[in-house]
Amino acid sequence: GTAEKGGYPHFMLKEIHEEPEAVKRCLSPRIRGGKVELGISGLPDDTLAAVDHIHIVACGTAMHAGLVGRYAIEALARIPVEVSIASEFRYRDPIFSKHDLVILISQSGETADTLAALRLAKEKGVRTLAIVNVPGSSIAREANDVLYTWAGPEIAVASTKAYLVQLSVLYLLAVKLGCLHGQLTEQQEADYCRELLEMPAHIQEAIDHEPEIISCAKQLKDDEHVFFIGRGVDYTLCQESSLKLKEVSYVHCEAYAAGELKHGTISLIEEGTPVIGVATQPSLYPKTVSNLEEVKSRGAKVILVCREGDKVDSELTTNLLRVPKVRDILSPLVAIVPLQLLAYHIAVLRGCDVDKPRNLAKSVTVE
Ligand code: G6P
Repeated sequence: GTAEKGGYPHFMLKEIHEEPEAVKRCLSPRIRGGKVELGISGLPDDTLAAVDHIHIVACGTAMHAGLVGRYAIEALARIPVEVSIASEFRYRDPIFSKHDLVILISQSGETADTLAALRLAKEKGVRTLAIVNVPGSSIAREANDVLYTWAGPEIAVASTKAYLVQLSVLYLLAVKLGCLHGQLTEQQEADYCRELLEMPAHIQEAIDHEPEIISCAKQLKDDEHVFFIGRGVDYTLCQESSLKLKEVSYVHCEAYAAGELKHGTISLIEEGTPVIGVATQPSLYPKTVSNLEEVKSRGAKVILVCREGDKVDSELTTNLLRVPKVRDILSPLVAIVPLQLLAYHIAVLRGCDVDKPRNLAKSVTVE
């Protein structure tokens, strides 16, 4: 019934609306007096200070969170990060060295391939840190250390709020590593902490744009192919949005690095093909907009996700989805929200079983 769904028609919608609260619950206990306090006893500061290479390993949406984590850790701490799909990592005979850290990300803590990757890393003597939502789950128990995301239960098969809290923990870790690696001053740490604590309010502002997102969903509901393009961290949001939309609506979606369009995908653009551009990074904004102009001139129907205040030629887009202006590296926390809501509303308009899409499971515990 709708009672267990808090009055919402579906868990997916309920869980998206829970995002501000979940992020707050995840972040606020770990920020004290302008400092990040991770509270992982097994990972003392001197161990983290010595880490010189990070492998992030996960599946699905958790892997996409890892891709954002890579941008954050590389930008703030200048530590090289590799992100792998767990089912690939475990069969790749990965190369480890002494000061490596393997980070496993999993909402359920039970995904078979992620668990196998964790066991492999442990067997090789590499230190493991799990970012997990479900307390006491297998991955949480077996990893050397665990950072819980504290989002509460996620019921809908398509993951939404878990992604946001995974990002939140990764940002905390990036700031912590940045300090320990001499890349961030105390003042910079305090600034990041303050801005992170402001994020729940900005996520709520993004959710408040739902009426515009519903009109965009109406525009797209009959399309059978949707393309997402973006650069840098926006490209990782495209990957997650494309996954979300295909999972719940059964629409064929592809995410493309905007600069790669010319190397193939542009051949698929014809009159009316929807192309969703994600452009939240000021340094890349003109580049992505120019790619959108290219597809527009070939007939594409262009939707743009950009920040409040960014200049947009009114001829370019059929729908504009604005997100709050926050620090560049933190923008995924707000920019994913309209894209999750868009996937949800398109699926509802198409009459899909949003919370339980065909063929999918919440947690994949077999290989
Ligand atoms: C399944 C779910 C996805 C999830 C993925 C990884 O495919 O349908 O929503 O992202 O597993 O799950 P995990 O629990 O490890 O985060």
